[in-house]
Amino acid sequence: MMETMHHEQMEVDPDDLAVVLEKDPAVVDEEDARKYHTGFHAVCYYRMSHRLWLEGRKDEAREINYYAHHLTGCDIHPGATIGKRFFIDHATGVVIGETTIIGDNVSLYQGVTLGGVSTSKGKRHPTLGNHIVVGCNASILGDITIGDNVRVGAGAVVIRDVPDDCTVVGVPGRIVRHAGIKTGSLDNMHNQLPDPMRDRIRELEAAIEALSAKVEELSKRRGRRPPRIEAIVPSAIPGAARDLPPGRRGSG
Ligand SMILES: CC(C)(COP(=O)(O)OP(=O)(O)OC[C@H]1O[C@@H](n2cnc3c(N)ncnc32)[C@H](O)[C@@H]1OP(=O)(O)O)[C@@H](O)C(=O)NCCC(=O)NCCS
Repeated sequence: MMETMHHEQMEVDPDDLAVVLEKDPAVVDEEDARKYHTGFHAVCYYRMSHRLWLEGRKDEAREINYYAHHLTGCDIHPGATIGKRFFIDHATGVVIGETTIIGDNVSLYQGVTLGGVSTSKGKRHPTLGNHIVVGCNASILGDITIGDNVRVGAGAVVIRDVPDDCTVVGVPGRIVRHAGIKTGSLDNMHNQLPDPMRDRIRELEAAIEALSAKVEELSKRRGRRPPRIEAIVPSAIPGAARDLPPGRRGSG
């Protein structure tokens, strides 16, 4: 099969071809993509090998995989499951392991590894959702899940699950954006970020109000004037300690 195979024999999925024209500004036209786009060739050969793999024609599938690896520098195991509109740019050095699962609209750049960290036969490669971009030379390792709409920065090494709508960079990969908002910095958008301190303070304020009401009710029952809450816990309410004479100020 190898000696006779030629690009004209490649099975072309029109969705895979369309996405090359959409995502690669360097491509001149459809003919250019068909003839010279190594990433596109890698995807086409993978589709053929995967079909044979599913039909149980594993040796033929591996032969196409072997040929495509030599031709494109991209090694996609025929057992991997890959969705529609799959785009690989430059191809060189891309490795996709046997039990990898990839959703629709995923783009990989050169040098990306979707690899295993175990020698056991089971699911050992990552699962990627839809609408994902993995930057050049990034590695996603192990049976982890990358959510929808995730961007993995160039050179990142991702070893843990990544939720939807995140950008992850670095070694080991850390989330620097969630839903388009930078993490680790308040910038001018602090009202859009989760704020556990603010939430805790609100809970404490509500508890203090409930306790004050209870103290007032008990005092009334005993015919006494209720004490001011600030006099009991001066540090509990912002600004309260300021209003007290020095001898009554709390330490906190
Ligand atoms: C990660 C990426 C998608 C940018 O995402 P973004 O959400 O726009 O992120 P930003 O550029 O705002 O950067 C967010 C933070 O991550 C850092 N960062 C961005 N890309 C990084 C990378 N690849 N590695 C390490 N840190 C990175 C930025 O310095 C910034 O840090 P700071 O918050 O301390 O300033 C982009 O940098 C990237 O790596 N794209 C891959 C492109 C590629 O592979 N091209 C190959 C073409 S052949």
